[in-house]
Amino acid sequence: MREANQLGCRILDELEKAVAPGVKTMFFEEIARECCREMKVRPAFLGYMGYPFALCCSVNEEVVHGFPSERILKEGDIVSFDMGVVFEGFYSDSARTVAVGKISPEARRLLDVTRASLEAGIAAVKPGKFLKDVSAAVQQVAESAGFSVVRRFVGHGIGRNMHEKPEIPNFVAPGLPELVLQPGMVLAIEPMVSAGTYEVDILADGWTAVTRDKSLAAHYEHSVAVTHDGHEILSLPPEAAIA
Ligand code: MF3
Ligand code: CO
Repeated sequence: MREANQLGCRILDELEKAVAPGVKTMFFEEIARECCREMKVRPAFLGYMGYPFALCCSVNEEVVHGFPSERILKEGDIVSFDMGVVFEGFYSDSARTVAVGKISPEARRLLDVTRASLEAGIAAVKPGKFLKDVSAAVQQVAESAGFSVVRRFVGHGIGRNMHEKPEIPNFVAPGLPELVLQPGMVLAIEPMVSAGTYEVDILADGWTAVTRDKSLAAHYEHSVAVTHDGHEILSLPPEAAIA
């Protein structure tokens, strides 16, 4: 799981380096596929439930599952990359939102808060803690900043499949199972945060989720292992991973 996720992290690094005004989003799909060829891994999303690309590339009000396309990035846009690979039967899954050139202070705040909400969720990952502590931590950071967390999509367990139990909502709701975290579990925690409403619509392509009010949205995701004394963020480089 660690090796798979470190390869995934390197691909996100390559994508992030290529972000600039004037770049077509299909270029990122080409980078993602080329990285997978070089690393001899399979892109996890390509063909999953019929998803037609290796990469999810979501711009501005697109929340998740955006298609790479002929769209050209412009200064002030934000672009979310979500990428997973399969290495020796194990899945990686990680996402981050990147600024295109200079962005508005509100867009910058959305990115920073969404990343902080993920970090808060991760900080709650310890054996003996409840899964809903993770959800509550994410929600608290996002909502106290005046933003909203998308409810339609959730994080998930991950391992030999991309989507395993349990579901990991970014909010608490009555009736959530009382799941206790145990060493060896791996959680893909992925807050999707909107600057406006948490309601989303799916575009006619059947995949792209956009905020109903067209407000900006950001998405950060890490795959995190529960260890004996805390957690390890698998989708970070080794020197940064132990927390
Ligand atoms: N990170 C996304 C998720 O966990 C990746 C799935 S995209 C799909 O749902 F296209 F493969 F569905
Ligand atoms: Co995921």
